[in-house]
Amino acid sequence: MTLDNINWAAVDRIIRVDHAGEYGANRIYAGQMAVLGRTSVGPVIQKMWDQEKDHLKKFNELMVAFRVRPTILMPFWNVVGFALGAGTALLGKEGAMACTVAVEESIAHHYNNQIRTLMEEDPEKYEELLQVIRKFRDEELEHHDIGLEHDAQLAPAYAVLKSVIQAGCRVAIYLSERF
Ligand SMILES: [Fe+2]
Ligand SMILES: [Fe+2]
Repeated sequence: MTLDNINWAAVDRIIRVDHAGEYGANRIYAGQMAVLGRTSVGPVIQKMWDQEKDHLKKFNELMVAFRVRPTILMPFWNVVGFALGAGTALLGKEGAMACTVAVEESIAHHYNNQIRTLMEEDPEKYEELLQVIRKFRDEELEHHDIGLEHDAQLAPAYAVLKSVIQAGCRVAIYLSERF
């Protein structure tokens, strides 16, 4: 990807928030595994976590390539992500899966917004970044579906839990784009 004539403000914001999001996702799955790692859903969670590790690695590389600094909120997402993963997992595997459904739906929506932004800017210029975001968006949607297949909707107070987590995701995205 050429570094000439790109919208630096947009690319800066996109890479910083996505890096933060993938980092947060890794911490959520780490928290889930700490509680549910030895149960029947352990391997299912581990597989999703492994994909999140690839997502984070890619955004780490993009940060270096585009000289984007991480959000100053990284230490905060470290703790909040793990607490969210472990906390919902303590409600049982359904709670963990409800968290996955809520978070992955928010992230997929967020990635779709970025795809729209970059398409409006210049689809050819941002082809490489678009390919990354599209691939990750598809994988987040797979995680979302895995959550539903593993009884997310049977979690206690599913609807409330989901809307609270998604409100948190919106705040996290807003802050990570700006700080
Ligand atoms: Fe991800
Ligand atoms: Fe994911």
